[in-house]
Amino acid sequence: MRKVMVLNGPNLDQLGTRETEIYGTLTLGEIENLCIEAGEKFGMEIDFRQSNDEAVIIGWLHEAAAAKTFVVFNPAAFTHYSIAIRDAAALLSAGLIEVHLSNPLAREEFRHTSFISGLAQGTISGFGAQSYVLALQAIASS
Ligand code: DQA
Repeated sequence: MRKVMVLNGPNLDQLGTRETEIYGTLTLGEIENLCIEAGEKFGMEIDFRQSNDEAVIIGWLHEAAAAKTFVVFNPAAFTHYSIAIRDAAALLSAGLIEVHLSNPLAREEFRHTSFISGLAQGTISGFGAQSYVLALQAIASS
């Protein structure tokens, strides 16, 4: 079974109560369950993780690169400024899809820059938890 790592950056552990008008009311655990359900449908094993720590996420990207694992990645705020995360994501060879719950391009200007987009096969933004499911669907049909 194909394994897909779904990695989540800082503050996404606060979903459910965090700025619900922007991010909705689903918790990260509920989003994980949606991904696992989608994974069952698409024949994928989902390895879902979140960290607020840049170094931990860099370690996970190294792990995915070494194992040639496909990554669905919501880097959260790291999207907009972390060159270290970008450099680690550049090591990935199996594939990378960037996802966001909101559409950063429709928000504040500082969110318009992504250090990750240029490395990703594609970016899916603005569909809430469905952004993740759509990313898994894109992998399944690729
Ligand atoms: C986010 C968008 C980012 O700008 C923000 O910093 C986040 C969440 C999203 O999923 O919409 O934390 O990645």
